[in-house]
Amino acid sequence: MIQVQVIEALKKGIYEAKTTGKSIGFVPTMGYLHEGHMSLAKQAREDNDYVVMSIFVNPAQFGPNEDLDKYPRDLERDIKMAKDAAVDLLFFPQAHEMYPQDGGITIHAGAQANVLCGASRPGHFDGVLKVVTKLFHLVEPTRVYFGQKDAQQLAIIETLVRDYNFPLEVRRVPTVRESDGLAKSSRNVFLSEEERLQAPAIYQAIQLGIEHFKEHQNVEEAKKITTQHIEKGTSGNIDYVELLSYPDLTKDISTNTSVILAVAVFFEKARLIDNMMLNNK
Ligand code: PAJ
Repeated sequence: MIQVQVIEALKKGIYEAKTTGKSIGFVPTMGYLHEGHMSLAKQAREDNDYVVMSIFVNPAQFGPNEDLDKYPRDLERDIKMAKDAAVDLLFFPQAHEMYPQDGGITIHAGAQANVLCGASRPGHFDGVLKVVTKLFHLVEPTRVYFGQKDAQQLAIIETLVRDYNFPLEVRRVPTVRESDGLAKSSRNVFLSEEERLQAPAIYQAIQLGIEHFKEHQNVEEAKKITTQHIEKGTSGNIDYVELLSYPDLTKDISTNTSVILAVAVFFEKARLIDNMMLNNK
């Protein structure tokens, strides 16, 4: 596995792959890798000749009071895991390499960012779009891999790629879970022992809500059932419980064939998100 920290070295690796006609699969991450990231890498490995993974805790997508400094990092372990996943090139730049100067041009996410995590994390998705735009131009991938765990992020990136004609294909990868149903996340390490025992109630609550919605098509009731189950089963504070169309993310659920039931819960030191999609037609 080639390990590079600077853009010039990344470009060299990409150039060699491109000129030998290889397809490139790209997995952007913020590191502290777990089975969720590995599942993206595995899919990329299956679909492509050459696999690039990036590890970059992107300052642009963290708000002033968020956990940028505390975000978990373990590069040595990540390198080992990337090797195990047969990644060909690992790119882990410093912030000054990615953002050497600021010309003041920004990319704003559209209405899809006004709800869910976008509503509670202003500017977050603009920061995500900034970094993925740069990474897509640097890596020139054939296919990029994103997890359904971050369904809003996935929907917004699909819109960017569609509306601005990025010459690549976005692949959706299903959420990988612990055996008790908790969605794998780098932030799960911040849960206390007791919170960790409670956290599977989030996924149970989403499943209950989706089942109810499937049967009764009642948005408010489904949200209520989900909310009550989380309130009963955890000490966390609910940030949101929403049922929206997907990928448009509006309250008009007749506009898309799919709906999403998405949840965010604050625990003492971690904010966890999870969701389920339902093909509703
Ligand atoms: P990060 O949280 O590290 O996630 C990297 C990728 O792994 C994302 O596409 C995310 O959806 C996926 N992922 C995380 N947990 C998963 C799980 N349990 N199952 C399946 N996939 C999972 O998302 C980001 O980083 C950043 O915002 C990034 C896109 C890299 C831009 O900075």
